[in-house]
Amino acid sequence: MMRIHYLLLIMIFAFSCRQNSPKRVEPNQLSTELRQYFLTKGEKIALESQKALMSKVLNAINDEGLPGAVEYCNLHAIPLTDSLALSYGITLQRLTDQTRNPLNDITTEEDKEAWTILKEMHSDSSATSKHLLKQVKNDIYYYKPISIVMPTCLSCHGAKNKDITPDTWNVISKIYPNDKATGYTLGDMRGMWKIKFSGKDM
Ligand code: HEC
Repeated sequence: MMRIHYLLLIMIFAFSCRQNSPKRVEPNQLSTELRQYFLTKGEKIALESQKALMSKVLNAINDEGLPGAVEYCNLHAIPLTDSLALSYGITLQRLTDQTRNPLNDITTEEDKEAWTILKEMHSDSSATSKHLLKQVKNDIYYYKPISIVMPTCLSCHGAKNKDITPDTWNVISKIYPNDKATGYTLGDMRGMWKIKFSGKDM
């Protein structure tokens, strides 16, 4: 509890400083405490968002079957992450190098660099922490791998005609003619969460 109060004080102090002078908190000078604060907060948001998405997909599969659940993801995945982002006061994305929805493509140099680092962490079984904090000017970015954690993921991202039934593939290929998001196996890194904590909100 003490620790949380201490962090809150830092945040309040940082915020009140900004009211009086144009000088902002420079994330490049983030203290160890603040780094830890953003890592913990980022991890919490990523986990909760993952849980929310997964429970929605599982419900959709239950209610409508796999082909119906593909349509559900098409309509709701991005709006759902957007509404989670709004409630947390951050920006939230799922990015990947092999996209289903091209809107989730990795495009910036920063994201490419983060992807490479996370891929290494992901395949390193001795790595204890598998997430990343980046500071760019006044913004702080949190990245975390998204893994193929259960066989259900493979029904839409595994091998065609083996894990993915022809019925399901039919719908996927119709909605996403340039789909690249198949061929994964259990444990693979499928994508990454990207959270942006905006400096101006600090
Ligand atoms: C019912 C089919 C289905 C299942 C099951 C499924 N996905 Fe997806 N996945 C999709 C669709 C459809 C999209 C594209 C969503 C959109 O248009 O925003 C997608 C997109 C993604 C993306 C965003 C990157 C991209 O390629 O657009 C990630 C990451 C992802 N899925 C991971 C997973 C993981 C991990 C699991 C298992 C927990 C999983 N998916 C289970 C259908 C599925």
